[in-house]
Amino acid sequence: MDDAVLAQLMLPPGLPGSGRLRYAAAMQLNRAGRLSPEALEVFRICSPRDGEDPMILLGQRGLARELPAPSASSPEQSLHALLDEVDVYLSGLAGPGTGELRAGLAMARGKPISLPKPQKSAVVDAHLQQALVQLRATHPSLALAIAAAAPLLKWVTYDAYPAELIGESFRTGHAFASLVGEEAPFRAEDFDIGLFLIAPHVLYRDHNHAAPELYAPLTGPHGWRFGPDASLVIKPAHEPVWNDPFAPHLTKVGPVPFLCLFGWTRDVMQPATVLPATDWPQLESLRITPTGTFE
Ligand SMILES: [Fe+2]
Repeated sequence: MDDAVLAQLMLPPGLPGSGRLRYAAAMQLNRAGRLSPEALEVFRICSPRDGEDPMILLGQRGLARELPAPSASSPEQSLHALLDEVDVYLSGLAGPGTGELRAGLAMARGKPISLPKPQKSAVVDAHLQQALVQLRATHPSLALAIAAAAPLLKWVTYDAYPAELIGESFRTGHAFASLVGEEAPFRAEDFDIGLFLIAPHVLYRDHNHAAPELYAPLTGPHGWRFGPDASLVIKPAHEPVWNDPFAPHLTKVGPVPFLCLFGWTRDVMQPATVLPATDWPQLESLRITPTGTFE
């Protein structure tokens, strides 16, 4: 069974005939013992519905985790594949920071991988799949690479903030994993690039840090502001945000989990600081709709 079958199974919704192609791939995988009859049934139901993503029904039936991982990939190959996909993605972005980050990726690519001891996260278990459903519609190979590499990564929470200042919903509602960095699979000094996931509707309160930072959001919409008590602006997926050193920023997650690539180009060991504001309670209860309006 090669990865072409898996890629066919993961065809994004909307392509004419894709429902039948996904079902054909599902039957092959089922015959090979790599897909359960229950998951196959979902692909059968969705086979006449090209525009419907079977991942949604799989998720509703608790079957999303049964999807097979690429069979030919070793952990090292999966991590290299993600590194390559991140590089391709960054190459398509305009704005500051992408050149520095791609130079860091190029430096890291030639070094041996240090496989971390994987560390699971309840936030990843609960929300990564939903984020990848959205990403697959436009960037299927990046979504597949993230899905394959995510179980190999060490997912952690950022613990430098005082708990009472950063708030409980962010403290327990986020996780990140480095791909290139001081203790990442691809080692690099004073540099950090990886994946960052925040649960729906969570407010990541105003904060800043010495490290210059690129956020490349892979899902959306979500809200941002760049100064305590400033007004919120809504941004879609794939619109990068660059934060200069110590520039204040805040993120309000919308209805889809916030999945992004983050990059810190230097001063990565300098801790981030929460910046007080008066309107956090209102922003915590605010809801952003799928079309980017406020409820
Ligand atoms: Fe930041």
